Formats: sequence, structure tokens, C-alpha cells
Amino acid sequence: MPKNNKRYKKSDKNENFIYSEAFPPDKNGRRKKITQYSLSHDILSDTKINPEDIIYKPLTLADIEEIENLHKEWFPIEYDHRYFQKIFINKHNSYFTIGAYYKIKNDKNEDKEIILGLAMCQFRPVSEYFIKHTSPESIEEICKNIDFNEEVLSYLNCEDYHCVYIMTIGVLDEFRRLHIGSKLINLIIEKALWDTLCIGIYLDVIYYNESAIKFYEKNNFRRATKLNNFYDLNGEKYDANVYLKIFTRKEKDYFRSKHYSLFWKLISACFITPMNIFFKILIFFLFFQCFRKKIKAE
Ligand SMILES: CC(C)(COP(=O)(O)OP(=O)(O)OC[C@H]1O[C@@H](n2cnc3c(N)ncnc32)[C@H](O)[C@@H]1OP(=O)(O)O)[C@@H](O)C(=O)NCCC(=O)NCCS
Repeated sequence: MPKNNKRYKKSDKNENFIYSEAFPPDKNGRRKKITQYSLSHDILSDTKINPEDIIYKPLTLADIEEIENLHKEWFPIEYDHRYFQKIFINKHNSYFTIGAYYKIKNDKNEDKEIILGLAMCQFRPVSEYFIKHTSPESIEEICKNIDFNEEVLSYLNCEDYHCVYIMTIGVLDEFRRLHIGSKLINLIIEKALWDTLCIGIYLDVIYYNESAIKFYEKNNFRRATKLNNFYDLNGEKYDANVYLKIFTRKEKDYFRSKHYSLFWKLISACFITPMNIFFKILIFFLFFQCFRKKIKAE
């Protein structure tokens, strides 16, 4: 269960409470002020969130402005508007998104959905990832770190397999440590497990972002390799760590069997149960008729 639901008082506004460990610390380990772009901070400033009321569903093109605002707050990288557009506009694309929405009433008493957190992902070929991001030495390192078995190793050479790449993930800073991020990760895992040819999930995280690293490790991602000078932030180069979660055949089979049995339960609930009810009513009706005739006869 979540440990806290820290809320900021109105007086804290303008005191720059926006905080993201994705931004580089200075020489003393402190981070610069981050401008507040999203209006959600003000809207939610007196709201106590119940995690069970959060709705998880794909983001839409209508959210694009807010998505851009949140990215400005969370990440030191300037994302082009087209970066977000391509995710929604391209119909046959390999991208998928998950938003954590919270419904509130606005001034006109209308329902309004606020984004508390989001994840943007892409299915990418395994070969592309390994060719682009890893050297033969680091593949060896990956195998050592993740305790690959023979079966998983065989994936690496196969062109047909792909991975989910987590492009970005973040949660509004007031609502962190409520397991919203973990729920997003679990939904990404589910999506990846549904795909027969998807062997796992990976992402890169800047080396100093300790809270994100702890978050991935808590969610059972393993450090696979280091990418030297991967990020360029205002001319400064920073290393990145690649974190991976690779599925074994056993995990995939377990997931599918669990969901297929749920599927059959649903089928039986839809078709078999109503039939049962129908027969029960029919039998009851026949008995009732017989009983009535018997009374009349007497
Ligand atoms: C990383 C991030 C998405 C985590 O989201 P979150 O909703 O706060 O994470 P969760 O509540 O699901 O955390 C799950 C576990 O991760 C670990 N964790 C998360 N944040 C942590 C922190 N700041 N310090 C230590 N451990 C942390 C904890 O073990 C936590 O479990 P616990 O609270 O029961 O101890 C969030 O901190 C964030 O948005 N950061 C800014 C953007 C960013 O850096 N994104 C990642 C880029 S690679």
C-alpha cells in the first residue's frame, strides 16, 4: 500500500515545488528550480487522491498539450511537438501509451480528467536494439547480469522478436510513491506479455537518477549495460544505464493460461449461465403449472 499522499498547500505554489531527479544535479548535488508548466498542480492542490479511483487507459491526441507540459517538468530533454504527434497520428504505428487519469468536477460541475502519470512506449525489433545499443561485450555482460538461459539467448539472434521500449514514464510530483508508476509498469508488462513475439521490456535511465533506478529495480528490472555519453544535455555528456526485463517462456505461458482461463470463464458467464437461468425458470414454470392444475382438479 502507498506510504504517503503528500499534498502541497496553496502557499507552496510559486515556491517551485516541481522536482524531478531526471534533471542533472550541480556540483553540490543540488538541482535547479524547475518551472511549473502543468495546470494540474493548481487544480489538484487540495485533492486527496484515492489510488483506487485512478483510471488507467491510453492517452489521446486531445491530451497532447498536457503531455508536453509534463515532459517539460519531468525531463531535461526538449521534445519536439512532432515527437508526440507521431505517437498518436500514425495509424499503423508501433507506439502505445498509458495514462493514469483522475476524474474531478470543474467549476461548472462538469467531469474533467486530469493526468496524474503516463508512460509512452514502442515495440522495437530485438535486433535493432542490440545492434544500436550494444556491443558484443555488453551482450556478454547482459547475459551475465540477467542470468539468461539458453532459451532467452536464442531470442537475441532472431529477427522476428521484439521488445517494448519505455520511451518516457513519469508521475506528477505531488502524487509519487503512491504506486502509480508501478501500476503503469505492470500494465506495460501485461501488454508485452500478450504479444507472442515480445521477449521483454527495456529502457535507458540517466546514471544519476537514483529514484528512477530504485523504482525500476523495485519493479524487477535488471541493469543490463551502461551506455557511455548517451545523453547530451546542454553540451554536457552523461552516461545511461540500460535496464531490462526479459520474459521466460514459462512466464509467458503462465500469463496466457491465466488469461485464457479468464476468457473461458467470461464465455461461460455470458452463454452458459443465462441458459442455466432460462432452464431453471422453465422448470419452475412447469412445476408451477402442474401444481396449479392439481389444485384446480381437487
Ligand atoms: C520514477 C517515477 C516514475 C516513479 O513513480 P512513482 O509512482 O513515484 O513510483 P512508485 O510509487 O510506483 O514506486 C515503487 C517503488 O519504487 C521505489 N521508489 C520510487 N521512487 C523512489 C524514490 N524517490 N526513492 C527511493 N525509492 C523509490 C520504492 O521502492 C517504491 O516502493 P515503496 O514506495 O513501496 O517503497 C517518478 O519518480 C517520476 O515521475 N520521476 C520523474 C520522471 C522520471 O525520472 N522518470 C523516469 C525516467 S527514466
